[in-house]
Amino acid sequence: MEDSPEQRFDLSAARATALAAAREWGLELGDPFALSNVSYVAPAGHAVLKVAWEGDDESLHEGDALALWDGDGAVRLLRRSGRALLEERATPGDDLSALADDEATAIAVDLAIRLWRRVGSPFRPVTSEIPRWLDRAEREGSELVPLARELLVELDPGADWLVHGDFHHHNILRLGERFVAIDPKPYLADREYDLPAFLWSPMDNRMEDRAQTERRIAAFVATGLDDFRIRAWTVIRGAYLRPDYADQIRALLPTHHLPREH
Ligand SMILES: Nc1ncnc2c1ncn2[C@@H]1O[C@H](COP(=O)(O)OP(=O)(O)O)[C@@H](O)[C@H]1O
Ligand SMILES: [Mg+2]
Repeated sequence: MEDSPEQRFDLSAARATALAAAREWGLELGDPFALSNVSYVAPAGHAVLKVAWEGDDESLHEGDALALWDGDGAVRLLRRSGRALLEERATPGDDLSALADDEATAIAVDLAIRLWRRVGSPFRPVTSEIPRWLDRAEREGSELVPLARELLVELDPGADWLVHGDFHHHNILRLGERFVAIDPKPYLADREYDLPAFLWSPMDNRMEDRAQTERRIAAFVATGLDDFRIRAWTVIRGAYLRPDYADQIRALLPTHHLPREH
C-alpha cells in the first residue's frame, strides 16, 4: 500500500511498541508529532522514536536505508530494535515547504544526489509492488491506470538505484544549517521514481502551476535524470497516489505519448 493524505491507520500497536522501546532504552517521550499518519513518531530529547504502522510494508527497510546513508543527506539512525527506530532529531525541524520554490528544489536536488545509491540487498525492487498498487487503484476507479500500465511496459523499469520512496517537501527537514531527509520508503528503482511525490508536494499543491512543475523537472533533468521517465513515473505513481490530479498529470506527457484511446 501507499498512503494518501486522507487515510488514517490504527496506531495502537505501533504506540505500544514505541512505549516498550522507550522503556527499554530509558527514554522519555514527548507528544507525538502532528504530521505523522502512518507511524507513531515522538520526540525523545535530541532523538526521535519512530515505529511504523505494522501494516506498512513500504517502510520495512527504513532503518536499513538510514543506516546506509549514515547521516549523509538523511537523519542518522542511532539505535533500532525490531520495528522501533531511534533517529537523530532534526532541529529546528521546519520543512522545505516554507522556502521559495527554486531554493527548495535546489536543496532537494542536492539531497537526492546523495541518497540515490547503486546498491542491492536488502532493498527490494519496486516493480514487484506496482501491479498490485495499480490493480487496487483500478478497482477504486482511477482513470489513469490503463495509461500507467502502458507506460510501465514502455519504461521497462530498472532496479539499479536505492530511492528514497517518499521524497517530498514535508519529509525534508532543517537540521542546523542544512536540510536532511526523513521517512524513507526505500526501494530499488529508477531514480526518476522519486520525482512524482516531489512534483505534487507540498500538501496544498494540486499541480496547477505548470511552469513551476516544469522548472522542478528541469532542475532534476540538469543532473542527468531522464525527462520522459520523470513524466511517465508521474503518471504511473499518480494513478494510485493522486487519481484526482489526472488531468494535470496527463498534461505533462509529450503529446505523441498520449494514446488515442485515453
Ligand atoms: N528525525 C526527525 N526529526 C524531527 N522531526 C521528525 C523526525 N522524524 C519525524 N519527524 C516529525 O514527525 C512527522 C512524521 O514523521 P514521518 O517519519 O514523516 O512519519 P510518517 O510516515 O507518518 O509521515 C514529520 O513530518 C516530522 O514533523
Ligand atoms: Mg512523512
